[in-house]
Amino acid sequence: MSYTAPLPWTLDSLDLDRIDLSRIRHNEDMFFLLCSSSFVESGSDLYTQNLIDHFAGDQELQIWLSQHWEHEELQHGRALAAYVRTVWPEFDWDSGFKAFWNEYGAVCTAEQLEPSRGLELAARCVVETGTASLYRALNEITDEPVLKQLTHHIKSDEVRHYKHFYQHYQVYREREGFGRYKVFRAILRRVREVKREDSDIALRHVFNLCYPHHLGNETEFRRISDRAQGLLRRHIPAEMTVKMLLKPLDLPARLQNSLQKPLARIAKKLFLH
Ligand SMILES: [Fe+2]
Ligand SMILES: [Fe+2]
Repeated sequence: MSYTAPLPWTLDSLDLDRIDLSRIRHNEDMFFLLCSSSFVESGSDLYTQNLIDHFAGDQELQIWLSQHWEHEELQHGRALAAYVRTVWPEFDWDSGFKAFWNEYGAVCTAEQLEPSRGLELAARCVVETGTASLYRALNEITDEPVLKQLTHHIKSDEVRHYKHFYQHYQVYREREGFGRYKVFRAILRRVREVKREDSDIALRHVFNLCYPHHLGNETEFRRISDRAQGLLRRHIPAEMTVKMLLKPLDLPARLQNSLQKPLARIAKKLFLH
């Protein structure tokens, strides 16, 4: 399948020369968050094929995955990598990514997908909720204008991805007829997985390259990653995150409203360690 559809924004629209280094370069937490995100996004093609194969016969979804979604995720990776390279040129992004890729590739297997297509779509909504919340938080944290623009673009893409997966989820829910409890379990499983794997592996590889003398030092790794995740946690849009996570459950309005507040309190921990 060839790629023909235009992307909503492109790398050329980012003027990396305009980066205000004084507003970002000193911030090690942001370096860790941006660099680990650039690894995960750049590794998108590791699992895209699994996902496309999972929806064999559903040509509409397969075309969207291969011609829109994958390109947009990879562009997120390219744009973030370009930003990181410009602001922190001393960091060897290629070596870090290569090490990440080797480990991440081994955990991205088809067995990880939900066997039911509809439940996998609910799980995809979880992943897009995580990224939409992440980039919205990064957008709020930074006052560096180029990063502000970039995180805004990426956040909008992630919200659009969520909506697209959700639309297809609704069709499959009707078709497969699974109940709310199964959806709830699938959501929970994916939340745990995102937390355990993606960001943790990426952060470790950024850490290993930055602090080779602390290689294998779990305490030091936790100190650095907890600090970066703490910054993120303070800015996670809790209400939006909970609303997006609960939506596939299609709860009665009154129940949804009563869950919204208590869950918003724990939402900040959902995708973080
Ligand atoms: Fe993305
Ligand atoms: Fe996405």
